[in-house]
Amino acid sequence: MENYKRLLQYLKPYRFRVGLSVALMFAVTLSAIPMPLFQKQVIDAAIPNRDERLLVVIFFAVLALYAVRGLVSFTLNYLVGWLGQRVIFDLRFQSYRHLQRLSLAYYDGRQPGKIMARLTGDIDVIQYALTQGFVYLITDVATLLIVVGWLFLLQWKLALITMFILPLYVLNYKLLLSRIRIVSVELRERWEKMMSTLTEKVGSIAVVKVFAREGYETDRFMETVAGNFKLGMQQTKLNRFLGATSQVIRALGTGLVLWVGGTIVQDRGMTPGALFAFYGYLGYLYDPAVRIVDFNVQLQWANAAIERVFETLDTRPEIVDAPDAVHLPSVRGEVEFRNVTFGYDSDHPVLHDVSFKVNPGEIIAIVGPSGAGKSTIVNLLARFYDVNAGHVLVDGHDVRNVRLETMRRHIGMVAQETILFSVSLKENIRYGKKDATTDQVISAARSADLHEFVMSLPDGYETKIGEDGIKLSGGQKQRMAIARAILANPRILILDDATSALDSHTEANVQAALGHLMEGRTNFVIAHRLSTILNADRILVMSEGRIVDFGTHTVLVNRPGLYQDLYREQFKTVEDLSDDDRERLLTYATAAHA
Ligand SMILES: Nc1ncnc2c1ncn2[C@@H]1O[C@H](COP(=O)(O)OP(=O)(O)OP(=O)(O)O)[C@@H](O)[C@H]1O
Ligand SMILES: [Mg+2]
Repeated sequence: MENYKRLLQYLKPYRFRVGLSVALMFAVTLSAIPMPLFQKQVIDAAIPNRDERLLVVIFFAVLALYAVRGLVSFTLNYLVGWLGQRVIFDLRFQSYRHLQRLSLAYYDGRQPGKIMARLTGDIDVIQYALTQGFVYLITDVATLLIVVGWLFLLQWKLALITMFILPLYVLNYKLLLSRIRIVSVELRERWEKMMSTLTEKVGSIAVVKVFAREGYETDRFMETVAGNFKLGMQQTKLNRFLGATSQVIRALGTGLVLWVGGTIVQDRGMTPGALFAFYGYLGYLYDPAVRIVDFNVQLQWANAAIERVFETLDTRPEIVDAPDAVHLPSVRGEVEFRNVTFGYDSDHPVLHDVSFKVNPGEIIAIVGPSGAGKSTIVNLLARFYDVNAGHVLVDGHDVRNVRLETMRRHIGMVAQETILFSVSLKENIRYGKKDATTDQVISAARSADLHEFVMSLPDGYETKIGEDGIKLSGGQKQRMAIARAILANPRILILDDATSALDSHTEANVQAALGHLMEGRTNFVIAHRLSTILNADRILVMSEGRIVDFGTHTVLVNRPGLYQDLYREQFKTVEDLSDDDRERLLTYATAAHA
């Protein structure tokens, strides 16, 4: 009920329309009353008295009644439809806006398919419960009360019989509907699961193929589909059974009314017209009664959906602006980690008491084995997550005390995985700076060694990526991401394995460009290539979430330790290089650095 009350708030801004709908509903309900009475007049007055005029009057009255009723119904349905669509609109918009604000941690543990289901299926269920359910509930209750009143006025004995049959009818529905709903809920859950599987498996079809698991995946999917089939049939069976039993009960009611009513008419206890009218009113009784029961069942169903949607809306973003967060219009780019401890799940820290300080304009290479916590360091700097203990400081400001939006503007990141959107190349490049001119986009692309490739495409920068556009190679994607970061022109630049997918020739080109790009910024470079590392001013060596060394290449390489080991292991080929090649590598590294 709490949930439902909260949901009703969504109708509040439109209370005028809700009020109007309710009024129109009463009009529609009331307009149902005269019809059986007209029938009564035809049978009791017009036929025995051979009254032609009365028949004409009734003809026009029926026509007028239904014309008005049609108009009112149309307006009513339009209004209710509008309210429903509007609530969907509000809820979806609000949910999406909220999802955008939620921190990465929220997404870490959730399947995208499930999040999507909340924005689609769940909101549809809510809309139905709120408008169809709630709005028509009022009409149905009103109709029931009015019709029952009329039945008693017309013939109380017949009305009593009906009052015995009606609960039987309703009970039958209640029992079967709850079972139908249970099946529906299960069907929905399976549907959600099926969607998740589909998204995952279709999205990663290459993996399936590489391991030749098509047959296995098909079989597994077959199981899911077969399960859905079984449930679907169960639902159909229950539905049809309900249809059949309710018809029998209804027939029992109608039959009894005709039988008992017939004897009452024979005994002159009521006119034939009144029996006919009574019969007419009976028709108005069953459907609203069932809808009221159905609404109750639906409510429980909708409740689960409402809960899920509100759960999303109630999740507070973990990364928020402190009340006294300051605006930092510009930064010099000094970065300090002071005794930082952090875990994606706070019980399992992946960074332990990490401290280091970086001067503005420095190039810092972060090296270390896989899983050492290199990406985690830069994730904290970009404030995708907040530390569990300690401080991350930029220009001496704890990042938690700086307005998120201004902080992010100073930090650019080329992440380990490049994600591009299904829009044009140009739009992708200027994603981080929407007011960039075409010239700026082109110059960024040039720096990322991307321009020639783009110009070789028929549509140039307007070429679309994705479903109805071109597909990019891993290296091209990385260069897109670099161009994007160049254009955003951040003060602190993070390159997380940003050149891993480039061939050595392209890398050399990009590296040279990056050399320029890095000037005047503080740079964090996570890389496995010697050239990049030689390029750095200082090297941060990480292992198992700790900083084990921090210094220049010359110092680190000449003393025993992790760096020396890594260097020997990864770059021993350097020793094997021809003198020419080594010369070339070093020249280029120094050139890029200068
Ligand atoms: N989103 C996440 N949720 C939970 N744990 C995570 C998450 N991302 C990383 N981890 C864990 O944190 C630890 C450090 O991961 P991190 O990504 O920082 O390593 P890395 O040094 O960047 O490794 P690589 O060189 O392979 O990219 C790992 O043990 C990893 O399992
Ligand atoms: Mg990483």
